[in-house]
Amino acid sequence: MSNEPDRYGLMGHPVGHSWSPFIHGMFARQSGASLSYKLYDVPADKFRAAALEFFTSGGRGLNVTVPHKRAAAELVNRMTGRAERAGAVNTIVMQSGNELLGDNTDGAGLIADLLTNLGFELADRSVLVLGAGGATRGIVAPLLQSGAASLVIANRTAERAVELASEFADLGVVSGCGFAQIDPEPVDLLINATSASLQGEVPPIPPEVIGPRTLCYDMAYGKGDTSFTLWASANGASLAQKGWGMLVEQAAESFNLWRGIRPDTKPVLEALLAL
Ligand code: ATR
Repeated sequence: MSNEPDRYGLMGHPVGHSWSPFIHGMFARQSGASLSYKLYDVPADKFRAAALEFFTSGGRGLNVTVPHKRAAAELVNRMTGRAERAGAVNTIVMQSGNELLGDNTDGAGLIADLLTNLGFELADRSVLVLGAGGATRGIVAPLLQSGAASLVIANRTAERAVELASEFADLGVVSGCGFAQIDPEPVDLLINATSASLQGEVPPIPPEVIGPRTLCYDMAYGKGDTSFTLWASANGASLAQKGWGMLVEQAAESFNLWRGIRPDTKPVLEALLAL
């Protein structure tokens, strides 16, 4: 037995801007765990080798982010039901018997943020999700399983939305379309899961989807407003939220998988919201 701290980390490309070391550092202090959490900037063609090297050299657990979530699903020996359903893995843990288990905590993170931090009940609500990439893939099943009455996925490339929706048709009322086909009626929850705000853009959708009670949620986060939260507020949203809560809650789910303890997310979220 060594006295080295247990090793964890995040693999992605890029990862330089990540808040995960800060979050997991706070979780570790809370639980008195001795662990390290490092960032690994790994391009797509090096992911498999880098992840295997991490675990064969004693690493305990990894978070995986863009663009490796699908590749991580290929890499692991087993997947949890929710990772299987999403077809994407954001958390890997080395289990006894040298088996790698892949999980996806993104959806649970979003649901926890909506329910616990924002007090938003999904039962019988209408949901419009913008984007049909990896970020959307992780949240469709949890939204439907939490009772959403209807879910529309709208995407710049309409076919991607239609195809993604068809993968989840057994779980509820879900359909896909292009931005131009969005029904201009208020929804209860509007989620931006596109990467448009990274380019300072907002998807061209009818502002009528925002009603007086619509919760507008940008899965992107950062200091200040995003182009989506600015657009939502300018179009009458009473609550335009960024994805800090989802980030912290998915991290807590990952920590739980790794260490068997679900940390208290409140002080961590407060620290990030105060930035
Ligand atoms: P991620 O894993 O972050 O979801 P992705 O799989 O590349 O990344 O998906 C990015 C999503 O953002 C896609 O839905 C993309 O639309 P397309 O499928 O048409 O490419 C969407 N997106 C990116 N830039 C956008 C922009 N400027 N306006 C609208 N949608 C955009």
